[in-house]
Amino acid sequence: MPIEIAEHAGFCVGVAQAVDRALVVARDAKAQGIFCCSLGDLIHNAAEVKRLSREGLIPVTQVSQAEGAVLVIRSHGVSREVLAQAKAIARQVVDCTCPFVARVHELADSFCASSAPVVLVGDAKHPEMVGTAGWCHGDVHFISMPDQVAQLPDGLDHALVLCQTTFPPPLWEEITKALLARFPGITVRSTICGATRVRQTEALELAKRSDVMIVVGSRDSANTRKLYETCMTACKKTYLVESVLELPAHWGIIKRQRIGVTAGASTPAQILREVIDSMNDMELQDNFHPENEQATPQVQEPEVTPAETAQEPVSPAVEQPAQPKAEAQPSFMDQVAASMARIHNGQTVTGKVVQITDDEVCVNIGYKSDGLIKRSELVDQDVQLGDEIDVEVVKVNDGDGNVILSQRNIVNRKQWDELMQKYEANEFVDAVGKEAVKGGLLASINGVRAFIPASHLSQRYVEKISQFVGQPMKLKIIEVDASKKRVVASRKEVIAAENASKKDTVWQALEEGAIVKGIVRRFASFGAFVDLGGVDGLIHVSDLSWNRSAVPSDILQLNQEVEVKILSLDRERERIQLGYKQLQPKPWDNVEEKYPVGGIITRPVVRIRPFGAFVELEPGVDGLVHISQVSPTRINKVEDVLTPGQEVSVKILAVDPEARRISLSIREALEDIAFDYSMDIPGGEYYHEHEGTAEQGEAGQEYHDALAGDASQAQEMENSGEQPAEELMADQTPDGEAPSHEEAPAQ
Ligand code: F3S
Repeated sequence: MPIEIAEHAGFCVGVAQAVDRALVVARDAKAQGIFCCSLGDLIHNAAEVKRLSREGLIPVTQVSQAEGAVLVIRSHGVSREVLAQAKAIARQVVDCTCPFVARVHELADSFCASSAPVVLVGDAKHPEMVGTAGWCHGDVHFISMPDQVAQLPDGLDHALVLCQTTFPPPLWEEITKALLARFPGITVRSTICGATRVRQTEALELAKRSDVMIVVGSRDSANTRKLYETCMTACKKTYLVESVLELPAHWGIIKRQRIGVTAGASTPAQILREVIDSMNDMELQDNFHPENEQATPQVQEPEVTPAETAQEPVSPAVEQPAQPKAEAQPSFMDQVAASMARIHNGQTVTGKVVQITDDEVCVNIGYKSDGLIKRSELVDQDVQLGDEIDVEVVKVNDGDGNVILSQRNIVNRKQWDELMQKYEANEFVDAVGKEAVKGGLLASINGVRAFIPASHLSQRYVEKISQFVGQPMKLKIIEVDASKKRVVASRKEVIAAENASKKDTVWQALEEGAIVKGIVRRFASFGAFVDLGGVDGLIHVSDLSWNRSAVPSDILQLNQEVEVKILSLDRERERIQLGYKQLQPKPWDNVEEKYPVGGIITRPVVRIRPFGAFVELEPGVDGLVHISQVSPTRINKVEDVLTPGQEVSVKILAVDPEARRISLSIREALEDIAFDYSMDIPGGEYYHEHEGTAEQGEAGQEYHDALAGDASQAQEMENSGEQPAEELMADQTPDGEAPSHEEAPAQ
């Protein structure tokens, strides 16, 4: 006899809560000698009501009977007025209104605050509907069938439509269709309880695949009656039994068919268990009855060899039916026991979502009561009815008979475990800055809170910790207190490790002589530092420009991307010498073309020396005007007629690119240029002064003497030690040839 018990059978969450809580309250009141009552039967089940009475919960019909007593409001709820009355006269009111019914009251109360009318779909006499009507502020109209829509008065376009929590969903759909057709502006809110919907859907499916359906529950229960009606639509052999005593007598026939069993939301597990127990016993009895042996086609007798038969001569009447029963189907009690699982705090169980409200989700976990998850404890906020989810039992009983569940605890535990694995493996973790607090920053590592001390935020001092709030970052966990679930982490260590790794990579890629790109990061008096992608190299000032007097910040700019040549690498001391000028055109290239001998150009004086003046032809290319070539007249000191920065016209006397020497002459330039007496000629005053006078001849003579005496003058200076030897190399040439730039003394 294959028997299938509906997955969701018996107490719904609302009834289970009410019964558990009422029991605690009643026992407590009884112990204190206080009268405890419920307004009406706590549930629609006479046996259970009797049991509760024995525990001290006495049903009363009027609120006035609860004066000075502890009054329990049942899961159907009551009207606002009755509740106020109860609170006024009872010693204590224990409101066990089902949360889903309470939600309907809220909807009615808030929507109808402006006295808008309400259409209540359901049984007008049912206590739940009576209670809900008592929360409406405007006119209330009851209907329960689609054809009653036509009888409603006009003017309900702005009405609210609510329904009884146990109303059959298909009928509700028909009625709302009719309502919307007549009143298009009407507001429809489906308040059918998910537990009802799930039970009815399951029962219908079960009825479709069963030959016989047994619905266990009270005929007074709307919920049970509707289950019965639903099952009848799919299975004509549906029996509603209130207790074991009402089981069909012709069990011998039933036993050979597929049996489905379900129970109403107000059916105690005990009654369901008794019914199933009894079916079990009856099945066994039937199996023992020889008449039924032939009529049990699905029972497969095991093949028994003659030898086995000889060894174990058992009575076929007793043994044969028993063997296949044990193999084919577990006993009903096993099924019930399996469906009523034991649970404990901290246990992870899989359950099915049976109810969803704004505040919580109800999950069937196979326990006598469904479990509740508050929204805040729900990770998957988009959970749907019928979804299977893993939950943790936080409390088997919160004192009100509720099983409290959490989905977040499971996720948190998984996240913590993953975090600890990363901590042990020294792996970095992703985090987001959450809050600047005293001494550091709080960050979230995938939901786990971590503290980052200020000194671990960065490699440099952090002035404004709040700048990290909302910022993603990588962290290294440096300390853990597993018992308090506390984590201390460091961002600085991550940066240090990343930099070290970057450096390694960069160093491995560097080669002497290679040309690489970098960013100018800072200047010093001796050069510029360039970031090569994690490591800094130095361009010494001497490698910055062909112009020896270059200032780093005149040539480069901060954050400028530059191409540089790696001149040398010192891996041990982590020093990189870079060259910039090496990649720039050499100014001495083509100087002969650029500065042909005999040409006259105007350029600034850049340095003055005892033996002459250096004139900058272009950055990196200086020419020398020997003292003898400075002025048409004899002078004692170059600085008497020239000053640095002064623009002078010079004639190119000689160009030696190899030696990097260019000899210049101001004197010859003057001679070549059409003589203008008004010109500001260095030393010209002297010449001008003496021109056309008796002294002219003397002066000319002196001038020529000076020219002739250049070499000996330089020699003299050398001998006197007034001039560095390398400078003298230039001076020793009578024609005033300049020293090479490499040989020229530094400024
Ligand atoms: Fe509540 Fe639904 Fe039960 S409304 S009492 S959970 S049937």
